[in-house]
Amino acid sequence: MRYSYDCEDQSTLASASKTAPNRGALHPFDVKYGTDTGGYLGPEDLVKGRENDAHNYGYSAIAPSVFREACRRWRETLPAVSGRIEAYSFVDVGAGKGRAILLAAELPFRKVIGVEISEELASLAQKNVARWNRVARSKSKNIRMVHADAAKFRWPRTPLLVYLYNPFACSLVAKVSESLAAAAASGAGLVDLLYVNPTCTDTLTGQGLFVRLWTARIPMDEADQQADPYGTTSDLVSVFRLK
Ligand SMILES: C[S@@+](CC[C@H](N)C(=O)[O-])C[C@H]1O[C@@H](n2cnc3c(N)ncnc32)[C@H](O)[C@@H]1O
Repeated sequence: MRYSYDCEDQSTLASASKTAPNRGALHPFDVKYGTDTGGYLGPEDLVKGRENDAHNYGYSAIAPSVFREACRRWRETLPAVSGRIEAYSFVDVGAGKGRAILLAAELPFRKVIGVEISEELASLAQKNVARWNRVARSKSKNIRMVHADAAKFRWPRTPLLVYLYNPFACSLVAKVSESLAAAAASGAGLVDLLYVNPTCTDTLTGQGLFVRLWTARIPMDEADQQADPYGTTSDLVSVFRLK
């Protein structure tokens, strides 16, 4: 879905302007690949009355420089012998327009999957994958976009890197972490969470299922800073590992 400012009423416009004053900036990632992954959508733009819509925190896309550096640091935490990124499936919980799954596809993950509750965004992400495949000439990638509520998603039975860019409220984060623990018990066992803007850290650590490996404030590069919808220059990132 394209974000059409023409359709916004004045109150929506005012709140979006406050939250994301730079939301109209074109990102170099989209210029390079002919994709449409930028902008900002508030929760009010995405809510359609589905079961977990009330928990939705809205849409914006990750800064590529932050994502790449976070993945680089995560890879350093993999055990030297058993931990090969090639064994891991990457799952973006709240994939939006698909920028993070395209960035993940630069790495040798076994599978790359995006899960998105908004039908419009899931469909746009699918188109972005097709455009990216054409321009990046990627043949190898097994990228799948799923239109679903993350609370109901069936996790692949492989080691998992589950990525969240602060998609929803803590009650839902707790449900997702419980379902991951249950899936791990009957599957490959290894689950890491890469959590950007980790507002539900206390929920996760309080549940006792995951242990936090690290937290870092990762700076954006110059290009990402220029195009950041919120006008910020860094993101806080944490990695958690299932005990
Ligand atoms: C901040 S955006 C992140 C987009 C993308 N992951 C990225 O990093 O560029 C969060 C996304 O989570 C989605 N979302 C919120 N609740 C969800 C749920 N219950 N199941 C799946 N997706 C959800 C929102 O619709 C939104 O597109």
